Amino acid sequence: MKFFIDTAEVADIRELAATGLVDGVTTNPSLIAKSGRKILDVVAEICDIVPGPISAEVAATDFDTMLAEGRKLAALRPNVAVKVPLTPAGLRTCKTLSDDGVKVNVTLCFSANQAILAAKAGASFISPFVGRLDDIGQDGMELINDIVAIYREYPSFRTEVLVASIRHPMHVTDAARLGADVVTMPPSVLRQMYAHPLTEKGLAAFTADWAKTGQSIL
Ligand code: E4P
Repeated sequence: MKFFIDTAEVADIRELAATGLVDGVTTNPSLIAKSGRKILDVVAEICDIVPGPISAEVAATDFDTMLAEGRKLAALRPNVAVKVPLTPAGLRTCKTLSDDGVKVNVTLCFSANQAILAAKAGASFISPFVGRLDDIGQDGMELINDIVAIYREYPSFRTEVLVASIRHPMHVTDAARLGADVVTMPPSVLRQMYAHPLTEKGLAAFTADWAKTGQSIL
């Protein structure tokens, strides 16, 4: 399972990339706005920190402008994955860019049928938003289960299931249990994944007992 970080904050990306556990980064227009930075600058900087796919989202909603934006983003660095919304124009853009050899992440997916369309359009990644489904009282993980099962039936589909809108560590566990290819999580969730009170308690005891020995390993 691959871990992507869902943020445009370069300080967080640098810190978490140093763990060696970060395989890619996803951004979106809201995260770029929150960073207060120019999209082209921040995406290029992120691409230089993390070698894996860095998703950068188009802003337009019509095909011609989306395609032009997608090509500009893709030209920034070889590890850019262009993110397009799951609309007819977005999927047309996906097909055109994918045919040109550009990785495309299709975002804002909320149904299995949408995921089938994205796979047929040649998407490298489909991003179902589990947290936003949970927010409206639907089970986001049920959608992941459906998409993983459907994609398995069609080996010609090359699209990876990228579980997005992750809100807490249990989303990561559930996505892993279902065999999702990738999860993209906010930095806070990756940090939370390390934590367990028994780990902290156990380490405190080991450290205290070790001090009593007066020994040094080095
Ligand atoms: C995914 O690529 C999106 O950027 C992200 O996961 C959306 O998450 P949110 O629903 O917490 O905004």
